[in-house]
Amino acid sequence: MQASQIRQRFLDYFASKGHAIVASSSLIPHDDPTLLFTNAGMNQFKNIFLGNESRDYTRATTSQKCVRAGGKHNDLENVGVTARHHTFFEMLGNFSFGDYFKRDAIAYGWEFVTKEMGIDPSRLWVSVFRDDDEAFAIWRDEIGVPTERILRCGEKDNFWQMGDTGPCGPCSEIHYDQGPAVPCTVGGACGVECECDRYLEIWNLVFMQYDRQIDGTLVPLPKPSIDTGMGLERLSAVVAGEQSNYHTSLFLPILEQIARDCGKTYQKSTSENDVSMRVIADHLRAMTFLIADGAIPSNEGRGYVLRRIMRRAMRHANHLGKKEAYIYTLVALMDTLYSDVYPEIRSNRRLIEEIILQEEKRFANTLDHGLAILDEMCRELRAAGKNTLDGESLFKLYDTYGFPLDLTVDILEKQGIGADEAGFYTAMQQQKERARASWKGATNAVSSESIRQIEQSMTQQFCGYEHLEHSATVIAILDEAENRIETLAASQTGTIVLDITPFYAESGGQVADSGVLESDGVLFEVSSVNKSFGGIHLHRGTQREGSLRVGMTINAVVNRPLRMNIVKNHSATHLLQAALKNTIGEHIKQAGSLVNGERLRFDFTHWKGMSPTELEELENAVNAQIFANAHVAKEVLPIDEAVSRGATALFGEKYGDEVRVVTMGDYSMELCGGTHVDATGEIGLFKILSESAISAGVRRIEATTGRNALRLLQTTLGTLETIAQTLKCPIDDIPLKLARQQESLRSVERELRETREKLAALEIGALAAQVQTLACGTTILVTALTGKTIDELKTAVDIARNQIGDGIVALGSVLDDKVSFVVGVPEALTSKIKAGDIVKCMAQIAGGSGGGKPTFAQAGGKHPEKLGEALEAAREMIARIFQ
Ligand code: SER
Repeated sequence: MQASQIRQRFLDYFASKGHAIVASSSLIPHDDPTLLFTNAGMNQFKNIFLGNESRDYTRATTSQKCVRAGGKHNDLENVGVTARHHTFFEMLGNFSFGDYFKRDAIAYGWEFVTKEMGIDPSRLWVSVFRDDDEAFAIWRDEIGVPTERILRCGEKDNFWQMGDTGPCGPCSEIHYDQGPAVPCTVGGACGVECECDRYLEIWNLVFMQYDRQIDGTLVPLPKPSIDTGMGLERLSAVVAGEQSNYHTSLFLPILEQIARDCGKTYQKSTSENDVSMRVIADHLRAMTFLIADGAIPSNEGRGYVLRRIMRRAMRHANHLGKKEAYIYTLVALMDTLYSDVYPEIRSNRRLIEEIILQEEKRFANTLDHGLAILDEMCRELRAAGKNTLDGESLFKLYDTYGFPLDLTVDILEKQGIGADEAGFYTAMQQQKERARASWKGATNAVSSESIRQIEQSMTQQFCGYEHLEHSATVIAILDEAENRIETLAASQTGTIVLDITPFYAESGGQVADSGVLESDGVLFEVSSVNKSFGGIHLHRGTQREGSLRVGMTINAVVNRPLRMNIVKNHSATHLLQAALKNTIGEHIKQAGSLVNGERLRFDFTHWKGMSPTELEELENAVNAQIFANAHVAKEVLPIDEAVSRGATALFGEKYGDEVRVVTMGDYSMELCGGTHVDATGEIGLFKILSESAISAGVRRIEATTGRNALRLLQTTLGTLETIAQTLKCPIDDIPLKLARQQESLRSVERELRETREKLAALEIGALAAQVQTLACGTTILVTALTGKTIDELKTAVDIARNQIGDGIVALGSVLDDKVSFVVGVPEALTSKIKAGDIVKCMAQIAGGSGGGKPTFAQAGGKHPEKLGEALEAAREMIARIFQ
């Protein structure tokens, strides 16, 4: 039975038992920042299990795309080596949401495996959780499994949980005994629990009962539920009687294609070539499905896991002799094999191919160099009598040559060299800290001892969401060296700490407010505001009038027009992000942002540039939201609630238990601590300034809003008016008028060129008298023309050659303090003299250089006064040779 038939039989079977067939969810869990990739069929139902969401079905069945690589289950090194490790796999599952429970789940599982798949019951074993007598009894009494083939196992094997928190419960597994033909490789008492390959766990039936809390406690779910998972790859192997998942219809077509392309034969063996082919086949599936779901290779988070998978596959392709980009060509086969079930492969095929091709090119550029460096490192290591590569070197390979850690470890392993992986992470951490420190150094230095003391002695209140002006007490003053002082005198610079402040400190891409701290005769100008590690706002600036004293009450006043511009730009950034998702696709992910009083900058993942039409659509979409004047709500919510309501969070970002959620109508919802307008209409206007690439797969849009956008449009319009006046036409006619003018300019240029050529021809004609015929019969023309460019001189040589037949022509001319020479020699004479020789002889005299072909050469010189002498020398040279 083909794997595609097994998949269909599974879905049909559960549909016949009243289950809704639900499509696989994306591999990128958009609404769950706790998850790297979708790794189980139940992910998309998490909120239903928890009772936070309900659907119009209580039974569902899916064939779910899953990736396990880089997260909790990191199988990368084993992939391709063992018979059943994969990065990507399909999980078949049936689910009950408070509908049936253990009894039916077990009965369905058994019936499907033994009846639908025809697996021999005498080869099956089952396991239950330690004290789950209920499940034990069902297997024994209702299904009839002999008690000696029902095992009780502990938490490790028979208690399933999604992660550190979330739905979980005891489980029961069905195992298949491949028989003694698969001998135990572990040793000791082999059985179901043995790590060897003889007994395969084929199906996991989870009895979902609890929601694990952050402190580890188990809170019962509203309704006991069922979540089952069975790997299609494994089941296909068992049904086909194959010992390796790779030898099923899911992989063989890919393996055979790779073998064909590399001029090898796939031999179902453990040879290096066969392992490489399996790695490529596995990783190809993962990268194809991941990119189809919006992942893009990068150096962090999900993108980094994808890059590791891609580069690993690329190195194995390299090992098989594919030195040029290759893997992208296999996407066509993936399309054929999988698009019927997963149409996203076909609809994204061009994108998938393009991204793989780009990554292959990028990696090829660094691979050879990186490998040479690694070789060198190994040589030095051996010479020093060591056999572990240090963390710094591993990190250098990663940072400079794009070698993911596991790739380097893989290569080292083959040479019997170990790797200091912990050292790698230390080096990586150190670099991050260095980067942070240098950034801090540039803007502020917030780690001084005095600041730590201040932090400990107070709590500060931020009132800048509601107020732009507030009375406050000066708690502390620091001088430039960050020593605490009591008074800041006029014209001194320093840092002020207040008990309450309306000043926003630079964070989340939003720049800080500026403004003043004032009271009678006292004025401190705030030029920047940063947060200390402990979150205190530090107002930096200069004392302009009077002196500021600790304990003084001042009025803290934010620069209102600037803040209003910042706020507009920030709110527009949220609308832009939502509009990008709507117009380009859900895969758009924020990669960075900057908001100041002038403009906004938004970086996002996308694989190609946007067309002018797309940009216009985007601009219109944002402006439509502005014109709709939607209410902007800012609420503080528990993180779970915010995420389940669909707020956009940044992946990998750590949020507290409570988060601030900014919602704009029903269009945008983001976790954000920034300042915003109260209604979208306040933004006024949104205008895109530019769209560009900042690195592979990351685009940048710059835009502006409100008065700045208006000013931009006014200035542009003003420029257009000036142009229109000059052209003496209405603005709308400018393009037409310019096109016409350019056309007429082109024709004038053409005429000019032709006229000059005619003039040159006439001049040459007049020179006929200067044509000499040497004794041997060769004709030559060596002379000067007036004021010719090098191009005109070339044309003149052509004309002259036509006129004097098979003769030698050497012309010179002076223009703008420079002298040029062009020489033509007929093919038949080049064995005696070459155009380059003549031109060089002249150039030497005129202080220049030149060269060309034997029949045609040109040169320039710095001494126009030597023109005559140079021509004379050429004449003599020719005469000498042909005398
Ligand atoms: N969630 C369980 C697993 O992943 C069963 O589907 O094994």
